Amino acid sequence: MKNIVAIYPGSFDPVTNGHLDLIRRGSKLFDKLIVAIARNLDKSPALFSMQERKEMLQAMTSDLDNVSVETFEGLLVNYCIEKNANAVLRGIRAISDYEFELQMALMNRKMEPRVETIFMMPAEQYSYLSSRIVREIAKLGGPLTGLVPEMVEQRVRERIGQRSISATGKHLL
Ligand code: PNS
Repeated sequence: MKNIVAIYPGSFDPVTNGHLDLIRRGSKLFDKLIVAIARNLDKSPALFSMQERKEMLQAMTSDLDNVSVETFEGLLVNYCIEKNANAVLRGIRAISDYEFELQMALMNRKMEPRVETIFMMPAEQYSYLSSRIVREIAKLGGPLTGLVPEMVEQRVRERIGQRSISATGKHLL
């Protein structure tokens, strides 16, 4: 059997229970899994810095011996080659994810045929979950229970509280 090193790339702003579900599934399948936080130039300002996201992911995956957490810039396929990775892991929640994921997978394969993309489905209860929706619910004061780990919920609440204070001079949540 080949030694499969997989990269699980994403923004992870913040990590959700859906991401963690996929990391656990991936860690059983691959010899090594690198969770890689991308510096995404296109997205609006992030809630957490790359280092903060890395710390949260590391804390949540510390029991998984074959999982490491890193950050990267530039093209994912270049990073895969640098890390000697032969696979990219991506999660597909619903059919709506498929179009974009297919485009990315095929483009990555065109640029670097040595790297295969592998899609996995998170548990059904996370099929509606995303970092974007977690940020939005938190900003509007809604419950995050079951969506992110407790430690992440606390960090999100602190951060959103800080932002509300600095933007308005008083605490909104
Ligand atoms: O969590 P996200 O935001 O859905 O992750 C998207 C991500 C980081 C996987 C994607 O934007 C990416 O691969 N960025 C690295 C730059 C790159 O290689 N772009 C070309 C993709 S075809």
